Amino acid sequence: MKILHLDTSINGDASASRRISAEAVRRLLSQHPEAEVIRRDLAEAPLPHLTLAEFASGESQAALAEFKAADVVVIGTGMYNFTIPTQLKAWIDRILIAGQTFRYSEAGVEGLAGGKRVIVALARGGYYPEGSPMAPLEHAETYLRAVFAFIGIDTVEIVAADGTALPPARDESISRAEERAASLAA
Ligand SMILES: Cc1cc2nc3c(=O)[nH]c(=O)nc-3n(C[C@H](O)[C@H](O)[C@H](O)COP(=O)(O)O)c2cc1C
Repeated sequence: MKILHLDTSINGDASASRRISAEAVRRLLSQHPEAEVIRRDLAEAPLPHLTLAEFASGESQAALAEFKAADVVVIGTGMYNFTIPTQLKAWIDRILIAGQTFRYSEAGVEGLAGGKRVIVALARGGYYPEGSPMAPLEHAETYLRAVFAFIGIDTVEIVAADGTALPPARDESISRAEERAASLAA
């Protein structure tokens, strides 16, 4: 089994999403000790914005190959300006590739990346509960679910810590998300 572990947070050791994604990977390894972990830190080694030259670059192809080879993808990310950080968007620009992870057919769009498990460790500074006035601003979880559904991955497991920018809620919210990550299904 191959686990692709991505992180995007610029906050280093103070990052909530890094703590949660690490816990999810620990959990997976406790269930599958033989698993190989492929690590990509998109904050330490960001992929450049996409250009025509970048599109065909070895680095872009390596990112796509890593994704295609993975059985499980664990993504640690915060919400930035109501959506995902640009580092993660640059990675998505490398993996949503026509003919590789989806194709257009007479029947419409067909996802070609089905069968992978995707776990997202998501940290949000505020709260975006369904039905609340903030809910329409939530474009991180909704975007990631849509992106992976587009390429054939209908189930994305989101382990979220909310309110991380609010000191009284922060620690408890992160601890609860870590506990959920530590008890993810095998
Ligand atoms: C540039 C930037 C933009 C942010 N924008 C939002 C936002 O739109 N909504 C929100 O709830 N939190 C926002 N936050 C707070 C982060 O989502 C929160 O700090 C989260 O814990 C970051 O993930 P990390 O702890 O893994 O770094 C923002 C933080 C940064 C640094």
